[in-house]
Amino acid sequence: MRLDYPVPALRSDVVRLRKWTYDDLDCVRAAGTDPSIPKGTTVPVHFTEAEGKAFIERAWSRNDDGQALALAIARADSNEAVGHLYLGLTRVERQCRLGYWLIPSARGQGFGSSAVDLISRWLLTDTDLYRIVAEVHPENVASIRLLVACGYTLEGTLRSWLWIDDEPHDALQYSLIRPDLHHT
Ligand SMILES: CC(C)(COP(=O)(O)OP(=O)(O)OC[C@H]1O[C@@H](n2cnc3c(N)ncnc32)[C@H](O)[C@@H]1OP(=O)(O)O)[C@@H](O)C(=O)NCCC(=O)NCCS
Repeated sequence: MRLDYPVPALRSDVVRLRKWTYDDLDCVRAAGTDPSIPKGTTVPVHFTEAEGKAFIERAWSRNDDGQALALAIARADSNEAVGHLYLGLTRVERQCRLGYWLIPSARGQGFGSSAVDLISRWLLTDTDLYRIVAEVHPENVASIRLLVACGYTLEGTLRSWLWIDDEPHDALQYSLIRPDLHHT
């Protein structure tokens, strides 16, 4: 199967999920100032216009073979990009992995949970996907609460799953499957 950009683009009262554009460089710059985002992503720590544009071009190229999709999370009111959603198909049939981040100034205002809820419902109702998985550091309380708020269920601990600063860390694996949507 392929993953493609949602048509029409997804939006709620809070966020729009849309393609990255070169007008979003301020968002890439802000993401690079966060201590955690560049560690698990290709966001440049030392921002230059060229590095910022290269990040946006990488986001576009994720969809070249239909195996992944990267979307900007934009504020519904201004269309300003404040975050990123990544979806990638896995070797497990009809499953994708989900990743996300918000720039520091946009956190705690519901943008993350609105974006994850919107994309998750679309993936499980409008595509052939049946299961979405997300892995979270056990101390990432905001991310755990976001997943729970979006109906995700804890499946277990993946031991030494994440490498951060050359050290292994456990991860919690959460999932959302199609039947879960009927309970939320
Ligand atoms: C995780 C992240 C995406 C959450 O997005 P957000 O827009 O700030 O989250 P929301 O405002 O939608 O809030 C989601 C839930 O987290 C809670 N939350 C938000 N910030 C929090 C914080 N700093 N500490 C504890 N809980 C927090 C909210 O109260 C809400 O929970 P509730 O529904 O039970 O009230 C964001 O903090 C982030 O980008 N962090 C850095 C990158 C990262 O960790 N990415 C995820 C990797 S798995």
